[in-house]
Amino acid sequence: MSGLLVFGRTGQVARALQQLAPVLALGRDAADLAQPGACAALNIPLVHISTDYVFAGTGHHPWAPRDMALPANAYGRSKWAGEEGIRASGATHAILCTSWVFSGHGANFVKTMLRLSDTRDQISVVDDQIGGPTPARAIAAACLAIADQLQEAPKKTGTYHFSGAPDASWCAFARAIFSLAGRPTRVQAISTSSYPTPAARPLNSRLECNTTTSVFGLARPDWHTSLNECLTQLGVST
Ligand SMILES: NC(=O)c1ccc[n+]([C@@H]2O[C@H](COP(=O)([O-])OP(=O)(O)OC[C@H]3O[C@@H](n4cnc5c(N)ncnc54)[C@H](OP(=O)(O)O)[C@@H]3O)[C@@H](O)[C@H]2O)c1
Repeated sequence: MSGLLVFGRTGQVARALQQLAPVLALGRDAADLAQPGACAALNIPLVHISTDYVFAGTGHHPWAPRDMALPANAYGRSKWAGEEGIRASGATHAILCTSWVFSGHGANFVKTMLRLSDTRDQISVVDDQIGGPTPARAIAAACLAIADQLQEAPKKTGTYHFSGAPDASWCAFARAIFSLAGRPTRVQAISTSSYPTPAARPLNSRLECNTTTSVFGLARPDWHTSLNECLTQLGVST
């Protein structure tokens, strides 16, 4: 693989990429994505990470890459605009939609649950939003593999899905965190309607990842295994 440039330096996936490969990582102070340019003109393959939030979040079926986007909030709309910009650019690219990213770095659900359990015996967590918790390290490894393959086979340009397995609710994920961390914190299942948030969140974040497997040979990562590693990294006894 030739040189790799990562936009972002301190994010979860950006850090995981720097741990896995000798990449050049530029923070927004050095390369601001608000000012796009470059990849198509220079014939550089681009791997871009997008989100389940581009979909409406309704129903129960996993979203496939060909499904119609209908973002329910500003974050989803901005990520969709990013996808459309990349497709229109003519650059060789892979847009990789993922969900529920966690790692030992940055802000994420695992760290929030552990922090809350320091001071609470019981936590209420929504049980009707379903998705695939995805380790940042697995996303980083997938990006590296995809970048390598895109360079050899630009025809693999397209949109793909990649999320951890098995799908779970936030409530089930929280219970797994406390179980693996050996914490006695009780998790009360609640519905989204009883936990209003300023931005609408999708109930159905399931992603259908079959094409990612068939085209790039990348299977959905098992989040249980990665959660164990993440907790160890955070110094939480398991
Ligand atoms: N977190 C999730 O649950 C989740 C779910 C689905 C999809 N995603 C997508 O996965 C990707 C990585 O997520 P993450 O959790 O690792 O993100 P994160 O921890 O929030 O980090 C965001 C990264 O994006 C960079 N960045 C933000 N604005 C930028 C700009 N204008 N120009 C250049 N770089 C900019 C930041 O650069 P600096 O290093 O300079 O701060 C940082 O490295 C994102 O595209 C996100 O939308 C995340």
